[in-house]
Amino acid sequence: MRDIESVAIPSKAAATGPAKITIRGVGKTFRRPRSEQIVEALKGVSLDVADHTFISLVGPSGCGKTTLLRMVNGLIKPDAGEILVNGKAPEPGPDMGFVFQSFRLIPWESVRANVAFVMRINHLPKAERDERVDRYLSLVGLAKFANSFPNELSGGMKQRVALARALAPEPQVLLMDEPFASIDAQTRELMQFELMRLWSINKGVVIFVTHSVDEAIVLADRVVLMGPRPGRIIEVVDVNLPRPRWDYDVRARPEFIDLRNYLWNQIRSMVISDPNSDFFQRQASGRA
Ligand SMILES: Nc1ncnc2c1ncn2[C@@H]1O[C@H](COP(=O)(O)OP(=O)(O)OP(=O)(O)O)[C@@H](O)[C@H]1O
Ligand SMILES: [Mg+2]
Repeated sequence: MRDIESVAIPSKAAATGPAKITIRGVGKTFRRPRSEQIVEALKGVSLDVADHTFISLVGPSGCGKTTLLRMVNGLIKPDAGEILVNGKAPEPGPDMGFVFQSFRLIPWESVRANVAFVMRINHLPKAERDERVDRYLSLVGLAKFANSFPNELSGGMKQRVALARALAPEPQVLLMDEPFASIDAQTRELMQFELMRLWSINKGVVIFVTHSVDEAIVLADRVVLMGPRPGRIIEVVDVNLPRPRWDYDVRARPEFIDLRNYLWNQIRSMVISDPNSDFFQRQASGRA
C-alpha cells in the first residue's frame, strides 16, 4: 500500500509549516447517563493539521469522530492532552465554522435569518452580511427559499441551509460532521464539488467527518482513519490525487480505487473483529 503514514511519525504537513491545529495525546471519557458505565470516547489521539489542509475523518460509528470535532471547536474540553488552534486553546466563534450532524436550525427564523445568524453575532455590517447570505444561499441552490422557514424544507434542504450558515462567515477552520448525509446522491456529488471549489478559493482548514469512504477520498488531502473502544487514530493516509478534482473522473483513477479498497478493508476488519459490534455478535450467534 502506498503513501501510508504512521501516526507516530510527525506528519508531512507538520514538517512543512507550523500546525494550524495541534492535537496532542487527547483523551475523553463520558459516563453513560443514569449508569456507572464509563465510555472511553477517545484515548491518546495526536494529529497535526497544517493550514490550508482538507482532512477527512472516517471510522465506525461510536469511534469518537463527533467528540473530536467538538473538542477542536472548544465546545468540550479534553480530559487528557491538549488541543491548540493557532497556538491557543480553541473557543467557539466566527473563525470556527461547525456543520452539525443534526442541522440545528432556528425553527422560528427564516432561512435568510438562519444563514445570517453567526455573522450577526460577529457584527458584520448589514450590507456585507446580506451580500454573503445571498451568495451562499445561491451556492447551495436555495436562493428562492430565503424567506421560507425550516419546517417548509426537506431534510436535504435544511442540511444545505446549515452548510450555507457555516460557510458564509468564511471561517479559518471549518468543522463538518457528516454534512451531506441527508442530501440525495446527485446533489451530494454537486455539493462535494462546490465545497472543493469554495475551499480552493478561501483555503482554510477543513475537518470533514463522513461514513462514505469515497467522499472522504474525493475531498481530502489526508484521510484520518479512526477505530473504536477506545476511540483512537489508526492511521493517516495521504491522498495524492491531483487537484482540481472536478475536471476529471477522480473515482476512475487506479490510486482512488486502491485507496478505497484499502480503507474499506481496514474498516471491515475493525467491525468484524470488534466483540461489541452488532455484526460480530450476529456472526458469533450464527445469525446472518
Ligand atoms: N455526551 C455524552 N455522554 C455520554 N456518552 C457520550 C457522549 N457523547 C459521546 N458519547 C459516547 O462516546 C462515544 C463516541 O461518540 P461520538 O458521537 O463521538 O462517535 P462518532 O464516531 O461520532 O459516531 P457516529 O459515527 O455514530 O456519529 C460513543 O460511545 C458515545 O456513546
Ligand atoms: Mg458522530
